[in-house]
Amino acid sequence: MEITKKEVVICLGSSCFARGNKQLVKIVNNYLLDHNLLNEVRFHGQRCFGHCAVGPSLKLDGAIKERLDEESIVAILDDFFESL
Ligand code: FES
Repeated sequence: MEITKKEVVICLGSSCFARGNKQLVKIVNNYLLDHNLLNEVRFHGQRCFGHCAVGPSLKLDGAIKERLDEESIVAILDDFFESL
């Protein structure tokens, strides 16, 4: 039986990247590493989500999270992975 992986997609469009996602890529990757989740999650980047005004953003199983910063991202990931 195939297990469906959770998906984390970070916006690498120029606006989000310049406004914080450059750092958030590292924070998300370290979070997945620290929580031993690298094999449970498909983490990748994507071009602009079309939500630049409320970036930086990422998607957690398709749900867009907006106005992220280095503190809020950890709480959001904690909530998302609580069920694992
Ligand atoms: S650059 Fe991220 S939503 Fe546009």
